[in-house]
Amino acid sequence: MKQLIVCINHRANPAQPSCGARGSVLLADHLQQEIIRQEIPITLQRYACLGRCNDGPNLKLAPGGEFISAVTMDQMERVLQQITAFARLPDGGLQADMET
Ligand code: FES
Repeated sequence: MKQLIVCINHRANPAQPSCGARGSVLLADHLQQEIIRQEIPITLQRYACLGRCNDGPNLKLAPGGEFISAVTMDQMERVLQQITAFARLPDGGLQADMET
């Protein structure tokens, strides 16, 4: 099954940006509720760091999907549409798209 990876890394030092310090735990909780409510065929995984700390909060669609960065609660409708579109791609669809 496809995965939505949500960085929840939290650094207490404000000089070191992190997704957790920018509210990603609440984003992850909300996304998990919506994935269940809307029956989106994707698994949410919480992750320690996606290596893009300055751009957070960061999400990653896997396998082979894109990063979604600087996510806010105001963007949830659009982000959920993006997640749903990715989740409903047929397995191997990304690979097939790349080969054409
Ligand atoms: S803290 Fe989220 S990408 Fe590093």
